[in-house]
Amino acid sequence: MRNSLEQLPGLAFLGYPEKTTYLLEEVALRFPAFGKPVLYGDVAYYPDAPVPAFESGDAFLPSGSVLPLWARCAFLKPLRISFDSIGEAANVLRDMQRNWAPYQFTQFRRAALIQEKLPYINLKPRTFPYKVPSSDMGIYTLLDANTMLASAATQSHFPAGTVLLQEDHENPPSRAYLKIEEALVRFCDAFGCDMPAEGARVLDAGACPGGWTWVLRELGCDVTAIDRAPLVPSLMEDSAVHFMTHDAFTLKPAELGRFDWIFSDVICYPERLFGWINDWLESGLCANFICTIKLQGGTDWDLINKFASIPDSRVVHLCYNKHEFTWMHCGRH
Ligand SMILES: C[S@@+](CC[C@H](N)C(=O)[O-])C[C@H]1O[C@@H](n2cnc3c(N)ncnc32)[C@H](O)[C@@H]1O
Repeated sequence: MRNSLEQLPGLAFLGYPEKTTYLLEEVALRFPAFGKPVLYGDVAYYPDAPVPAFESGDAFLPSGSVLPLWARCAFLKPLRISFDSIGEAANVLRDMQRNWAPYQFTQFRRAALIQEKLPYINLKPRTFPYKVPSSDMGIYTLLDANTMLASAATQSHFPAGTVLLQEDHENPPSRAYLKIEEALVRFCDAFGCDMPAEGARVLDAGACPGGWTWVLRELGCDVTAIDRAPLVPSLMEDSAVHFMTHDAFTLKPAELGRFDWIFSDVICYPERLFGWINDWLESGLCANFICTIKLQGGTDWDLINKFASIPDSRVVHLCYNKHEFTWMHCGRH
């Protein structure tokens, strides 16, 4: 058998581990024209999905709602590739472009051998902070020993849309630190900007016990942290952490003053967060925002679209998000 490439109609999406049902529900609700999917592990292939709207390869079109948020990675131009040998599979991919990331639900050993023959990409947990090059990153998955589903075009510079971080089990006060680390890595990739600078003045709303404040201090920021409950003692004693026992939403921007970045991980109804960030945007007192949108029961997609429609904004689901999304806004390019 000689290798063969077949351009497939439609689109395929890789869901997040154990969260593929959210992807299927979202597509059924928000993208009914996509029709019924064919499932390959966590990959949902929609042969009837209309493709032209995705031609730009940009997941973050202004509405922010063009690709399903529960899709970790999108196969924007899916191909079915038939091949005889591992070497042949690697050659076909390499002939298309340099970077390819695997997602596997079967044929793990064979896929690992194909990956070894492809140009190196770093699939190991990364130490924060880090940057990925803004080069194209393809995705492939073996369907059986001689067939793969692949796409050179995806919406992400991250391998299989995944941010995998080296964990620190000793120092951070909570596991929430992984969320802000991933959000910052994605923010810098999406907007082409730098991490918060040493000495930057930042606000951390809903800061207890202090995972996000801890990351911001590691970056050298001057942190105003607000919560009803205190942070861990090491952060409360840090002279660059200014803690306020308060409801973050009842403090007016003018009372708090100018910040370089605003972060919020407050557990609240998304409507409340939306009102609060609009107050801050109108005040003009901060340019950069990263805020968790906690989902309560069913998702209010109209409201999620409103977050995404704020100019220079993205709504994303992070690998380290649970039942929540993250809104990012970069007002300074
Ligand atoms: C998910 S936890 C934050 C975890 C934190 N980001 C970390 O890294 O450790 C949510 C926090 O929001 C706080 N919170 C809830 N409503 C709030 C409000 N209106 N103002 C300030 N904090 C609030 C809670 O007390 C809780 O500590």
